[in-house]
Amino acid sequence: MGKDVIIACDFPDKASTLSFLSAFTDRGIKPFVKIGMELFYAEGPDIVREIKALGMKIFLDLKLHDIPNTVKKAMASLSRLDVDMCNLHAAGTKRMMEAALEGLTRPDGTRPILLAVTQLTSTDQQALENELLIREPMENVVMSYARNAKDAGLDGVVCSPLESGAVHEACGNEFLTVTPGIRFADNSAGDQKRIATPARAAELGSDYIVMGRPITAAEDPVAAYLRAVNEFCV
Ligand code: C5P
Repeated sequence: MGKDVIIACDFPDKASTLSFLSAFTDRGIKPFVKIGMELFYAEGPDIVREIKALGMKIFLDLKLHDIPNTVKKAMASLSRLDVDMCNLHAAGTKRMMEAALEGLTRPDGTRPILLAVTQLTSTDQQALENELLIREPMENVVMSYARNAKDAGLDGVVCSPLESGAVHEACGNEFLTVTPGIRFADNSAGDQKRIATPARAAELGSDYIVMGRPITAAEDPVAAYLRAVNEFCV
């Protein structure tokens, strides 16, 4: 499992997404793609079916968080959609994560990879303490939530490439780290703060890297993708 580059398809609609992906299919390349809330809420489950029909794997990044029974049933729907990877908020508790896994597991025992989001990277220490009333250093909270996810039977977490080593230390090397915040050495960081190149992410132990703008906004997205694969998957 693991060692793949996932392209974040952060496009507003189906037309722009399929047009972007056609450059890949024209060359016989079927990348693993991430679909987020913007595109899914705009286009509905059909966007998943259409991309799956192109033979591509899908990480559906909807970050579920609700009572266990609701999450279980929502996950069953996502599992029937045949996504390859999906996620939820670890803050929903171990009971919610266990229910999610139950819902996700198909009658034949197979299921998509299930990841947890620990703390959003947009939450800083101040918000953690003053708004969420969690009076612990952020690193402790992230590692504790990762361990909860592991205990609940999840496959891994979404985290910074700079946290991959600590997560693997706390939860074992089989526990997946899927890492956004990736930039080529000659890219600007943009709004990402804690970044690594694909090669560095591989050294740090990332299992999958998620790349959006360095590929989607590149002059030649296919060349940028192949560059990322070359750097990360060697
Ligand atoms: O364009 P860029 O490479 O920054 O895109 C990264 C993708 O990963 C985006 O879809 C973003 O929402 C997602 N992401 C992130 N940081 C997180 C979780 C998800 O950048 N902590």
